[in-house]
Amino acid sequence: MCGIVGYIGKRQAYPILVGGLHRLEYRGYDSAGVALLSDKGELNVYKAKGKVAELELVASEKDCSGTMGVAHTRWATHGEPSTKNAHPHVSESGNLTLVHNGIIENYVVLRDQLKARGYHFQSDTDTEVLVQLIEYVEQSLGLSLEAAVQTALKRVIGAYAIVVLDRRSPNRLVAARKSSPMVVGIGEGNEEFFVASDASPIAEYTKKMVYLNDEEIVVCERGHELRVCTLDNKDVPVEVKNVELDLTMLDKGGYPHFMLKEIFDQPSVLQDCMRGRLLPEHGRVVLSALTDHRERLVSARRIVIVSCGTSWHAGLIGKQLIEHFCKVPVEVEYASEFRYREPVILPDDVVMAISQSGETADTLAAIELAREAGAFVFGVVNAVGSSIARNTHTGTYIHVGPEIGVASTKAFTGQVCVLTMLALALGEARGTVDAAEYRAVVEELQQIPAKIEHILEQNSRIETLSKIFTYAHNFLYLGRGWNYPVALEGALKLKEISYIHAEGYPAAEMKHGPIALIDQEMPVVFIATHHQQYEKIISNMQEVKSRNGRIIAVITEGDEVVKKMVSEYIEVPETLSCLAPLLSVIPLQLLAYHIAVQKGLNVDMPRNLAKSVTVE
Ligand code: AGP
Ligand code: GLU
Repeated sequence: MCGIVGYIGKRQAYPILVGGLHRLEYRGYDSAGVALLSDKGELNVYKAKGKVAELELVASEKDCSGTMGVAHTRWATHGEPSTKNAHPHVSESGNLTLVHNGIIENYVVLRDQLKARGYHFQSDTDTEVLVQLIEYVEQSLGLSLEAAVQTALKRVIGAYAIVVLDRRSPNRLVAARKSSPMVVGIGEGNEEFFVASDASPIAEYTKKMVYLNDEEIVVCERGHELRVCTLDNKDVPVEVKNVELDLTMLDKGGYPHFMLKEIFDQPSVLQDCMRGRLLPEHGRVVLSALTDHRERLVSARRIVIVSCGTSWHAGLIGKQLIEHFCKVPVEVEYASEFRYREPVILPDDVVMAISQSGETADTLAAIELAREAGAFVFGVVNAVGSSIARNTHTGTYIHVGPEIGVASTKAFTGQVCVLTMLALALGEARGTVDAAEYRAVVEELQQIPAKIEHILEQNSRIETLSKIFTYAHNFLYLGRGWNYPVALEGALKLKEISYIHAEGYPAAEMKHGPIALIDQEMPVVFIATHHQQYEKIISNMQEVKSRNGRIIAVITEGDEVVKKMVSEYIEVPETLSCLAPLLSVIPLQLLAYHIAVQKGLNVDMPRNLAKSVTVE
């Protein structure tokens, strides 16, 4: 779920490992730990509950020397966040040390069997069975470390990315993965290797990366070529990718939080997202996925979008875009529901998976199901080289750069931007899009970054506004049509980082229930821009006003009608209806951000949440 870093080479491992943990901290963060093998052959393990800084404090007085080691930030699934449950875990004999991301589903059975054979357990985690099981297999069958890892993993049900260090074998690190990401960086001349749960902690050391596939293990041995093999010990060709990560994207760049930086990044990253795809000189959109798989995509009888959270909200907008421009029916499903409810998937369906991280377990499982049923799978992903990017038939990266803040912001607008371009390109290929409208949308898309910039200029006004609402315990977000998914997204942003309960609703549905909640205490955010159903949403506003609800309205610039009705409003520039979400979501991101900051909360790392949800 959260972070792994491993190093073996010539340099001191500790600064690399701890620096890497800081890079990964955004993924999940209830405790951290590090194991180092010193040159004298001593294994030193340090752990701490809380942030990586706590771990550094614990380690500061201790021996942190050594040129190999493993480190971990944990997002607890089994056993409370505590020093005892933090990784790395050490085997009964003290020879093996292991870090793990994921869940071992049959850990109870395995633990009971190991206990019966005299193994003692120090933690409440599922992970500890792995290190004990590998040791048991190694000792009882007299196997090498990699053979023991292979044999042990065959008995394991669940998801894992692991790195194992054997103190008797100071030249090798062994790692493996299943349903949890793992990448290996190759340093100079096979003399050093980096292992991590994503490329961000190692990108400053090497560009040469190898992504592991499910049920593969890798042996990183000083002075040897990297060896990748299956659990059956069959060699797998090593495919080295050149991964360029913009390291400035991994820093806060002068902003107090990643989330604020990422909100402000939106004008420039949306330009990156459209670069080479939106061709204003030709008045066209060109997506390589569509050029390469034109026939398959054009002939789709139905598109099923699978995703979770914010990506699911982007999917709801994608449905409206695709149905409008391509006249193909689109269904939007929570990946977690889709995967378990025996969905009818037809061979001429296109299943579209939307995911920022590209590692969400439920979305991956939904893709698996779709592939088995013979559907064509299209990915809309941000993280380059991620599992979803690799497990889909084709796709379009959103290219908005790494998103560190747990609350997704620029990935959402990037997803909506890609879905807009995709709907236009597919609509053109299917002959279902009106030529004048197509040109108008292409024209207007180019203006979106500047219009977002303009909204961002109101940041301090939104900050002031947010101070009025920190008292609230509940919020309602209402929108219609294109802005209904924006209402859902605004509510999700607020609850994620401010811990204020918030619900998003289609405005017309309010009278079927939520209206009962409205009183003078209840802030109601209306997304009431000047688009379809504008008059209707004004009526909904009147209904709230007459019940003394406190309205905050997101309106189109210069809308004097709403300004007269409400005391709090935020203006956004005029745009086409189908592009409205790209603008109206921006004030809601800022509102959530400032309310959370006013409440003194940790905006980038909200409690209980993880950036990459690699467990189901
Ligand atoms: C967004 O703010 C959330 N943290 C969360 O809902 C997220 O969108 C969801 O977990 C899906 O993640 P993905 O896009 O990486 O698949
Ligand atoms: N399931 C393991 C634990 O609870 C690993 C969690 C993680 O991925 O951080 O310790």
